[in-house]
Amino acid sequence: MPAVPLLAVEDFSLHFATPQGLARVLDAVNLQLAAGETVGLVGESGSGKTVLALALLGLLGPAARAAGGRIRLDGRDLLGLDERERARLRGGQIAMAFQNYRGALNPIRRVGDQLGDVLRRHAGLSRRAARARAIELLAQVRIPDPERRCDAYPFELSGGMCQRVMIALALSCRPRLLLADEPVTGLDVTTQAVVMDLVMDLARDHGTAVLLITHDLALAAERCARVAVMHAGQIVETAPAGVLFSRPRHPYTAKLLAATPGGQPDIASLPVIPGGVPDTTRPLPPCRFALRCDRRVAACDLAPLVPEVVGPAHHLWCRRPVAVG
Ligand SMILES: Nc1ncnc2c1ncn2[C@@H]1O[C@H](COP(=O)(O)OP(=O)(O)OP(=O)(O)O)[C@@H](O)[C@H]1O
Ligand SMILES: [Mg+2]
Repeated sequence: MPAVPLLAVEDFSLHFATPQGLARVLDAVNLQLAAGETVGLVGESGSGKTVLALALLGLLGPAARAAGGRIRLDGRDLLGLDERERARLRGGQIAMAFQNYRGALNPIRRVGDQLGDVLRRHAGLSRRAARARAIELLAQVRIPDPERRCDAYPFELSGGMCQRVMIALALSCRPRLLLADEPVTGLDVTTQAVVMDLVMDLARDHGTAVLLITHDLALAAERCARVAVMHAGQIVETAPAGVLFSRPRHPYTAKLLAATPGGQPDIASLPVIPGGVPDTTRPLPPCRFALRCDRRVAACDLAPLVPEVVGPAHHLWCRRPVAVG
């Protein structure tokens, strides 16, 4: 990892004001990405993956409040930016590809115009140059007949094509960081592979770092150099993908893997980890997984929970890790 990583999330906590009280959704999150690096972020539904991505973009709305820590991009503090500076960053430096591509595309504007808007705003292209570049981008994401499709509305395209338009949109200004939140969920398996190949190829060509948010452990293992595991708003373990999947040290990671039926692990539907992701409006122990952990000992209730380096690029937030097998 170079001295100044591209993205450095340091002890970042985030709360939401809710009718049930303060939801402490992210708790002292630490995550780093080097330029061009691909990192997976996995965790059960409700663990805070999307909230973290939206926090990086500054898109969380008035109920959210940063409650400690720092987020830096290239050493620059993101939390201190005003809305104008943040808007400049979005699309330019950091882009996001959403799971819900239909929501991300404007249904009543032609896809070429939507791409053109971004290119004119962030890359300063003329209307004509933006259209030419939009067609180029559509060709790059392998949309057949891009000149014609440039004038299509989203409803005239298939789901897989819309997904590709959204990826073209996200990568159009060569962002330094792409937040890909379940970018292929909902597509058929063949299209998933095609779209993932595209994301990875384009990211590599542009030197873009990718944070790949997914339920799919196999996808993270296959596509990412490193993987971070999140549980109830806490990162519990980060490690090189091969290490994480062959020698997990956190009981939660180990449980996720053990519960994974061979072939297509999908942690959205894990049957065997007792209890759900805990309610973050309630008082919680320093390690939020302690509530569900069969290895819990008295030491697990001592604050603060600090990470331990247990191998090269392998960080662990656990007082009673699983022994290396
Ligand atoms: N605007 C909001 N106000 C209050 N709570 C919120 C808000 N947005 C998200 N949350 C809560 O934050 C927690 C984390 O949600 P998030 O969407 O980040 O989970 P996730 O890990 O992305 O899940 P999934 O895998 O289902 O996409 C959830 O408990 C959710 O209810
Ligand atoms: Mg999500």
